[in-house]
Amino acid sequence: MHTEEAVAQYARQDELSPPEKTLLNLLAPSARNRPILDIGVGGGRTVKALTAISEDYVGVDYSREMIEVCAKRFSNRRFEYADARALSRFVDGSFFLVCFSCNGIGMVNHHDRLRILNEVLRVLVPGGAFLFSTHNRNSPEFDGAFRFPSFERTMNPAKALVRGARFLGNTIERVKNRRKHKPLEVIETEYAVLNDECHNYGTLLYYISLEAQRRQLVEVGFEHDAIACDLSGAIIEDDSRDHSILLSARKPLLTRDAMRRISTVPPPPPNTNR
Ligand SMILES: C[S@@+](CC[C@H](N)C(=O)[O-])C[C@H]1O[C@@H](n2cnc3c(N)ncnc32)[C@H](O)[C@@H]1O
Repeated sequence: MHTEEAVAQYARQDELSPPEKTLLNLLAPSARNRPILDIGVGGGRTVKALTAISEDYVGVDYSREMIEVCAKRFSNRRFEYADARALSRFVDGSFFLVCFSCNGIGMVNHHDRLRILNEVLRVLVPGGAFLFSTHNRNSPEFDGAFRFPSFERTMNPAKALVRGARFLGNTIERVKNRRKHKPLEVIETEYAVLNDECHNYGTLLYYISLEAQRRQLVEVGFEHDAIACDLSGAIIEDDSRDHSILLSARKPLLTRDAMRRISTVPPPPPNTNR
């Protein structure tokens, strides 16, 4: 995420995906003109859509290069360097909507994912929403198989030469990356951290099923009824086979402590004056 190539690739985009459109349409009426935090803003793909909901917007990223490119693209918006694992620059209850799009939350290990979820919960106002996407453990990409890069056939000899050289270069990079990262994979019952095809096997990514993701959100303190979408933008109850799932999870209106206090308050004595 720090290379010129990655920054340029992300800085060209503006379009929302179908599930992002579905969930943002649902959230927009309650989020209108309320503070929004866009974590892992990258090259700024989501800036236009989110600032159309509220001008009270801040985008953060732990890649300084991404923050610089966003500041150039949208000079009238606020961007800051921050790591989602420690959002200490923001006080509790600062935002109504927090987004972490394009599986950005999947770029850290399990311990750090929980830190991020806790930080998001902390900076949300009660009743606020967290919109994020995650790699789906029930997708065929979870099979662990090595895949060669794609190669598009052509009858043009010059093009064939260029494509052949690119195919060879990518294959070598894939084999090298695979050897380095495969031994670092983590496979657990509730989740897996896998060396998948992304960036020519150059990274480890977190995979989880919808059911387990819902459980994880509740364990951290979010409401149990997170809304989920598949890649077509349809709302789903059970897991899909798509490589990613989008979710919108609410922070409860009452904290767990407040709920515990309420449930331990003894009932008032019966009214004997009737
Ligand atoms: C896959 S890119 C998506 C960029 C943009 N949100 C989009 O949808 O096009 C993920 C972004 O999240 C950022 N990121 C990943 N982990 C992060 C963390 N712990 N704190 C802040 N940013 C993070 C990366 O630097 C990268 O810019």
